[in-house]
Amino acid sequence: MCGIVGYIGNRPAESLLLDGLKRLEYRGYDSAGIATLHEGQTYLRRAPGRLDNLKKRLQNNPALGNVGISHTRWASHGSPSEQNAHPHQFGNIALVHNGIIENHEELKQELQQLGHQFQSDTDSEILAHLIARYCEQTPDNFAKAIRQALTRVEGAYALAILDTKHPDILIGVKQACPLVVGIAEGENFLASDFPAVLSHTRQFYILDDGEMAILTASHIQITDLEGKRKTKEPITLNWSPAAAEKAGYKHFMLKEIFEQPQAVIDTLCGRLDHDKIEQAFLGIQIEHLSNIERITLIGCGTSYHAALVGKRYIEALAKIPVEVDFASEFRYRNPLIQNNHLVLGVSQSGETADTLAALKLAQSQNAYTMAVCNVLDSAIPRLCNQSIGTFYTHAGPEISVASTKAFTTQLVSLYLIALLLGKQRGTLNSKDLQRRLENLYSLPMLLEKVLEHEASIQQVAKNWLKSEHMLFMGRGFLDIVAREGALKTKEISYIHAEAYAAGEMKHGPIALIDDKMPVVVLAIKDYLYEKTLSNLEEVKSRGAQIIVLCNEDDQKLRSLYPDALLIPSCPPDLLPAVAILPLQILAYHLANLRGLDVDQPRNLAKSVTIE
Ligand code: G6P
Repeated sequence: MCGIVGYIGNRPAESLLLDGLKRLEYRGYDSAGIATLHEGQTYLRRAPGRLDNLKKRLQNNPALGNVGISHTRWASHGSPSEQNAHPHQFGNIALVHNGIIENHEELKQELQQLGHQFQSDTDSEILAHLIARYCEQTPDNFAKAIRQALTRVEGAYALAILDTKHPDILIGVKQACPLVVGIAEGENFLASDFPAVLSHTRQFYILDDGEMAILTASHIQITDLEGKRKTKEPITLNWSPAAAEKAGYKHFMLKEIFEQPQAVIDTLCGRLDHDKIEQAFLGIQIEHLSNIERITLIGCGTSYHAALVGKRYIEALAKIPVEVDFASEFRYRNPLIQNNHLVLGVSQSGETADTLAALKLAQSQNAYTMAVCNVLDSAIPRLCNQSIGTFYTHAGPEISVASTKAFTTQLVSLYLIALLLGKQRGTLNSKDLQRRLENLYSLPMLLEKVLEHEASIQQVAKNWLKSEHMLFMGRGFLDIVAREGALKTKEISYIHAEAYAAGEMKHGPIALIDDKMPVVVLAIKDYLYEKTLSNLEEVKSRGAQIIVLCNEDDQKLRSLYPDALLIPSCPPDLLPAVAILPLQILAYHLANLRGLDVDQPRNLAKSVTIE
């Protein structure tokens, strides 16, 4: 997502900052900017779109000086325009910000009452104003002013900050968003990610939450947010640039699995304010949605599975009939498009040929179209923006072919759409909406809890490494999770894996069971638990080898079946997002232990732009 690079030293900052941003390009962005200081002046240059646009501006108007900050932004708060691009400047202060300021509305109102006017729609600009005000009180102590300003701020941030009055200082602060300090001879760096500055240094301080780094060209001081000095051990990275992009993980897939709590935070970031769910749909023509009488969700692969969950959300919460189709089937089956019909395409890449063609067909037959998409301004959003618009998942770049964080963030996005539709239609009252949103905020923490079980899931993978076949079964949401789990398993481990609705097993697939068949039974303590256990008994009595996916506190299943994939108890609506994680991790370890190319499995492509 957004990237930060800062520099202070004896070399011209502009080219170093641009080079750093270039190395973060793989993370995706939709605008970029840089600010440097020289002879008491701030040189601020920003441009929407690719870095080349910024470079062109800099060719005509260079940014002078040996100290500077820079940023690539992936829009969350406000459109990807020049005004919304970082750095933001007010008075002497220029800053770049990753994260979200939760109490930005309150701070904005307060500052407006004091006469401040804002140029952008971002929460970040407010910080520049706030810090500038505190600087007036302590003009000689830039760091203290920042610390005081931050006592007023709630939310997540990684900040790099300049003050024209203190051109020999660059300050970084971290709270819940990554920020590292690159240590070099006669120069120092700030970066949101190692790859940005790895060509200049391999020595880093990794800032912890609540830490501030005060950088000069020759010195680094780290303090807490009370100003107390902290001693920190630098680390030396031996990563190649490619390994750095993987943040030390062996594969992108594992990195992306572990990024899911943050990805969900990024999907939600800045979008929700109590029960005012409409705010999450800024720039989307949601007024048309109140007339919708029927919805078709389409997608391919993992996105199709997300659509299956989306159907259940929308039907349950908004009481609108929804059908789900593979995009490749929809486009050739002469679909029945009715009045006030919405066709909603789900796609990580926004480039999948079948999904794009299916949406074009729907549009040509006067259906409304909308997208849930991860890649900004890709073909599918461009098409749907001619109709209702696009809800971006903001999951950050997904590089591994097997989709993981795109799936969980698609689920969150579809859930928000279902909540919006429910609110619009009056099928959800505001108390219920509020409760569900509060539950949604607990999702990142629940995902963290699942990730803590990685080692035991790896052990299960070791036990079943030599399998030739695997069956997955569940009921309700877990039927869909089982399908996605089987897809993950087959696409990267090449184990023949199938999923079946547990209640359907006896109508055919049970014939496949013998004592060599591992069956992954998804059995969570919910209203379908007892029924799933009966289905478990059916396959077990035919000799199946059982792996269970169950609640952490399900002592009964855990004692009967040592190969257990554990998840914490969670609100029912969040179950698909929580329960898929152990299956992603299982598939990953099966593939890795089998020595396979996890990130680029044979015959598959990340983005399928042909039929
Ligand atoms: C390919 C990828 C899958 C993905 C599917 C749909 O098959 O390998 O991981 O789920 O395309 O892609 P989309 O970008 O439309 O979500």
